[in-house]
Amino acid sequence: MSTYFPTQLLPKTARATLRGLEIGGVSVADLVEKYGSPLLVYDEEHIRDRCRNVLSAFPDGASYAAKAFLCRSIARLMASEKLGIDVASGGELAIALSAGLSPADMTLHGNNKSRSEIEAALEVGVGRIVADNYDEVDRLEHLAAGIKVSPRVLVRVNPDVTAETHKSIRTGHKNSKFGVAITDNSAEVLVRRIKNSKHLYFGGVHVHIGSQMIDLDPLTRAIRLCAEFAKMVSAEELIVGGGVGVSYQNRDVSPSITEWGNAARGATLDAGFGGRLLAEPGRVLIASAGVTLYTIGTIKLGANTNILAIDGGISDNPRPAMYQARYQPLLVRNPFISSDSGPFTLVGKNCESSDVFGSDVDIPGDPRLGDLICLPVTGAYSYSMASQYNGLGRPAVVMVNRGESRVVARRETIEDLLRLDEVA
Ligand SMILES: Cc1ncc(COP(=O)(O)O)c(C=O)c1O
Repeated sequence: MSTYFPTQLLPKTARATLRGLEIGGVSVADLVEKYGSPLLVYDEEHIRDRCRNVLSAFPDGASYAAKAFLCRSIARLMASEKLGIDVASGGELAIALSAGLSPADMTLHGNNKSRSEIEAALEVGVGRIVADNYDEVDRLEHLAAGIKVSPRVLVRVNPDVTAETHKSIRTGHKNSKFGVAITDNSAEVLVRRIKNSKHLYFGGVHVHIGSQMIDLDPLTRAIRLCAEFAKMVSAEELIVGGGVGVSYQNRDVSPSITEWGNAARGATLDAGFGGRLLAEPGRVLIASAGVTLYTIGTIKLGANTNILAIDGGISDNPRPAMYQARYQPLLVRNPFISSDSGPFTLVGKNCESSDVFGSDVDIPGDPRLGDLICLPVTGAYSYSMASQYNGLGRPAVVMVNRGESRVVARRETIEDLLRLDEVA
């Protein structure tokens, strides 16, 4: 049986050393000793590298989809790399503002933006608002007239293309709740409505058909259809969303950022669209920049399965429960994998049977009680979708770079769990 270091799943600066796994020049075992377990660790160099890849694939510009993971440090890091930021609620907007980002570099999303969310965006002067539907444009126009501003409004269109991905993260098919259809004339009517408004400025077209897409063909088809539409309505810009998939296990094959950029550019050229082409990635920027470290607390050896239980679970990363996601666990002191299936099932400590992170996995190095497990590719849609289920509280998040580590989100405490409870 051959074992190897899974470079393709780990952050750029990850190394196997005599002391086990190291990221950003820091031993991850030392990080757990210092900050506790479980712990989410991000590699700053990896994120910066990805940002540069995205901007060379999309030279007209790109924004970071903050829903993948947002805290002030990440927002500032993205801004320092010249990315804008896409926020999907008043809460995300407030976090980005509190990080000191320029409102002009923000895009407000959402399929049901409230009056107060729109007002907040208009008052600070958010650079783009992506309108999802007719009701919202009415609301937007009324509020813009009251505040006396003329926001730049894009229309989110639905191209009726089904992404090859988990059904819960498809967003461009016929019955999706997102956007207005280009297949009948709804999107065209909405664009006309915006162009005819004294208070709104029509900025362009937006499309996002899904997330974790490994096959670029449906995405390319969708971009082409939307670019044809953008050309027809004389849009200044087309934002093609995000959606590019990443490898979660060693057998996965995923497209590169360059391939994505080339496919998007090819599709817009084919459609004859001459405006700006912008992107809005989340997962591909930060998923593999992050790893979560857990401690094994229970081992059950059985006839068919050997269960390893760690000190976190779907409360800090709900992807296994939501999308049946599976990961490639590594032992921190021996961070190698074998391509063979193996005897272990890695489970969390939440009270759900869907709390499974890896099944039939091999974990070379004879895992023992107290060993640290590293779950690679947990940088996107894990912490941002985490909950306080079972009162576990969310882990601390640290960023590592050139031998230094710093906390970017502290661990949730019992006091935090009680913070919203009724006053005693
Ligand atoms: C509007 C929009 N843009 C961008 C993204 C980012 O997608 P991903 O993280 O798959 O790149 C999403 C994710 O759902 C989205 O809804």
